[in-house]
Amino acid sequence: MAMIAYKAHDIEVKVVDLNEERIAAWNSETLPIYEPGLDEIVKERRGKNLIFSSDVHEGIRAADIIFVAVNTPTKTYGVGAGRAADLRFIESVARTIAEVATTPKIIVEKSTIPVKTAETIKQILAENSGGVEFQVLSNPEFLAEGTAVEDLLAPDRVLIGGELTEGGQKAIETLASVYGRWVPDDQIIRTNLWSSELSKLVANAFLAQRISSINSISALCEATGANVDEVANAIGKDSRIGPKFLKASVGFGGSCFQKDILNLVYLCDHFGLPEVAAYWEEVVKMNDWQKHRFAAKIVGSLFNTVADKKIAVLGFAFKKDTNDTRESAAIAVCRDLLTEQANVTVYDPKVPADEIRKDVLGDEENHRLSVVESAYAASEGAHAIAILTEWDEFKDLDFEKIYGSMSKPAFIFDGRNILDHAKLVGIGFRVSGIGR
Ligand code: UDX
Repeated sequence: MAMIAYKAHDIEVKVVDLNEERIAAWNSETLPIYEPGLDEIVKERRGKNLIFSSDVHEGIRAADIIFVAVNTPTKTYGVGAGRAADLRFIESVARTIAEVATTPKIIVEKSTIPVKTAETIKQILAENSGGVEFQVLSNPEFLAEGTAVEDLLAPDRVLIGGELTEGGQKAIETLASVYGRWVPDDQIIRTNLWSSELSKLVANAFLAQRISSINSISALCEATGANVDEVANAIGKDSRIGPKFLKASVGFGGSCFQKDILNLVYLCDHFGLPEVAAYWEEVVKMNDWQKHRFAAKIVGSLFNTVADKKIAVLGFAFKKDTNDTRESAAIAVCRDLLTEQANVTVYDPKVPADEIRKDVLGDEENHRLSVVESAYAASEGAHAIAILTEWDEFKDLDFEKIYGSMSKPAFIFDGRNILDHAKLVGIGFRVSGIGR
């Protein structure tokens, strides 16, 4: 929404949320989300054509286009628990819109939702709105965290799905004209509603599949003496394969990949396609396996016991340049190490200590987990360092100094393959990375 406000000064963008605290944060000096370049854009347009407010009803009444961007977490209860999306927030928004709206509106699904959600929204609107006319569009978001501003400025494509009726096509063109302020028209794809909804899940499933594929090969590389970065480079040069999303790692995280694949799996099962479901589910299983494999490798290398040893974890966010920790591989690795009774000391440049504690421990206490303010403090006296997020600052650390402060033999487990391994070995470290 900030990008629309930034690119189209004549469009008034109002972001509304029931949560007053969150709105206050968006109106404050410190925005609740860290994203390179976002501060500048928000601060430039805020109070002009970008308004943050907790008056949801007024926001709905005044709008011509309503983007629905509520949470669609994985269901934790009942039918589809652990896989299907929980649509209660979508439904409640649809009911509120129907109740409050007095003029025709275009409703845009922005949240990632399972196929056919537009149908649900349409039904609720149609039967509760007292004759007001609505068009429902699907417009999935393809930005990645950490590069959100870049991705929004120059998207590979914008996808808009709508009904094949005249009204539906008109609504698609209205939304296309908003993006048209800065996105070339041939990059704005128009489809039917269901294709658009499904494309988002499938795009994420294909991306995640590449990571799980290369991660499966990382294990084979370790067993054979091949180097997974070299393999990835060699296969990525084949233009049919391409170089992107082939970086072997301790595992993918983030709010989308796992959730969307599980959603896809649920849909396949629902439509009586268990083989297709099993095929995609394996992508998630491989990812879980990779996280546990990495933790097991640490334990194995440290002479099969990490009990009471200090292990420094550098990086906790699911990737660099974000403070988001959802589904971060670091959570699973820290838990596995704590189960082995290691003393785990975490440092992340952007994730607050209480978030780290909450993610790893939930409501429980564990004196073995601590969070510190620098990579140097984390490494002091440690038997091993585990790099779990590819933050740039980790590449520039003074490893001679770090080595001097560690217990020997000193190990580095480079879960992102970002360091110069030959140099580290020269200093005296025992180094292993993913797939090398
Ligand atoms: C993803 C999709 O890229 C985006 O299009 C969609 O809209 C939302 O989901 P995001 O979760 O923000 O975006 O991050 P992404 O850059 O895709 O990374 C996901 C995870 O995969 C991270 O944990 C990352 O470290 C990992 N990853 C990525 C790898 O392990 N190897 C790679 O080669 C690429």
